[in-house]
Amino acid sequence: MHGNRILLIIGGGIAAYKSLELIRRLKERGHTVRAILTKAGAEFVTPLSLAALSGERVFQDLFSLTDESEMGHIQLSRAADLVVLAPATADLMAKMAGGHANDLASTALLATDKPVLMAPAMNVRMWNSPATQRNRATLERDGVAFVGPNEGEMACGEFGPGRMAEPDEIVAAIETLLAAPGPLAGMSALVTAGPTHEPLDPVRYIANRSSGRQGYAIAGALAEAGADTMLVSGPVAIAAPPRVKLVQVETAREMLAACESALPVDVAVCAAAVADWRPEAMANQKIKKNAAHSALKLTANPDILRTLSQGAQRPSLVVGFAAETENVIAHAQEKRLAKGCDWIVANDVSPVTGVMGGANNTVHLITAKGVENWPELDKGEVGRRLAARIAQALKTSAA
Ligand SMILES: Cc1cc2nc3c(=O)[nH]c(=O)nc-3n(C[C@H](O)[C@H](O)[C@H](O)COP(=O)(O)O)c2cc1C
Repeated sequence: MHGNRILLIIGGGIAAYKSLELIRRLKERGHTVRAILTKAGAEFVTPLSLAALSGERVFQDLFSLTDESEMGHIQLSRAADLVVLAPATADLMAKMAGGHANDLASTALLATDKPVLMAPAMNVRMWNSPATQRNRATLERDGVAFVGPNEGEMACGEFGPGRMAEPDEIVAAIETLLAAPGPLAGMSALVTAGPTHEPLDPVRYIANRSSGRQGYAIAGALAEAGADTMLVSGPVAIAAPPRVKLVQVETAREMLAACESALPVDVAVCAAAVADWRPEAMANQKIKKNAAHSALKLTANPDILRTLSQGAQRPSLVVGFAAETENVIAHAQEKRLAKGCDWIVANDVSPVTGVMGGANNTVHLITAKGVENWPELDKGEVGRRLAARIAQALKTSAA
């Protein structure tokens, strides 16, 4: 692969010396590399080395009159196909996770509209610290990709995860991210996943057993296929897949609001197990034991699948899920017509199937043309097959 424009941000860590080699390898492969060197980074490598290797001038200062007149910081962050942080220091991760913009590197990161790849490098305790791990999780949720850190001996003499990935690994990660656009490049997708929690009082809620695994796998597969993917998720215990934008919600009403604000999108996949009902009123104080015997009064929640299927900003393709415990296909066919969605993915969630919370799923894809029975697959594979079918359908409808 040749000819991509890489904006390389070099932070203040010992591993900055490896970034010199990284520039050399990227140049050998025909890429253009422009470097931003942080103030701390300049303690480890010189702008002269970077300029000599990259053949480009090196940017260091947010308030540089020369730099701003030559290439403003916003333009710098946009005139690239990919932004790479190597080494990504704990500090740079924290700044980006927190949305800071107090030097050239952090401002460029906040302003970029391009994919970002981080190659962290730091002492093992810094990497394992709750703050860095929180920042890593936030960045992953925001769609930042990571390469490394690797486990090994570090400059500080300690052993563990924290070593920056080797230049070759970083080049491979860069080229994977820049690889030929997937079949859903340029498309946008909305996926809902997980259960909803419907509060009864400040400490109790009504929920269901959905783990979110199937919806997360679908969101991951859509993003992998190149779609700009937003995942609206109820409370679950799993991490967002790479390059997926995660919006966390609790209730059905919050989920609907998040979905509506994501519109317009090309495809919506409603895999969440949205509670059909919620307590009519949420008590402001914990309901006392002796007051709780009266019947629960419930009221219907908004129907997210129907609202998206019948709304003014209807996605080109709307896919619903039907979790059934009997007459799976017949119920799902009725649901497809009642909601007005294009496809229903039906699955049997009876406890004997182990689908709820399990790794595998056996689904039936119900379209206007009929029923396709898919074999038992792991949820990742269900996601990939569904993403491939979605790409096919959107291509046909666009043609
Ligand atoms: C000798 C030395 C080595 C350092 N190595 C690292 C490192 O590998 N990773 C890291 O996150 N911080 C490291 N630091 C701390 C950073 O340089 C410091 O947090 C700095 O503020 C980072 O600035 P920057 O993120 O703008 O580059 C090191 C500091 C010193 C003095």
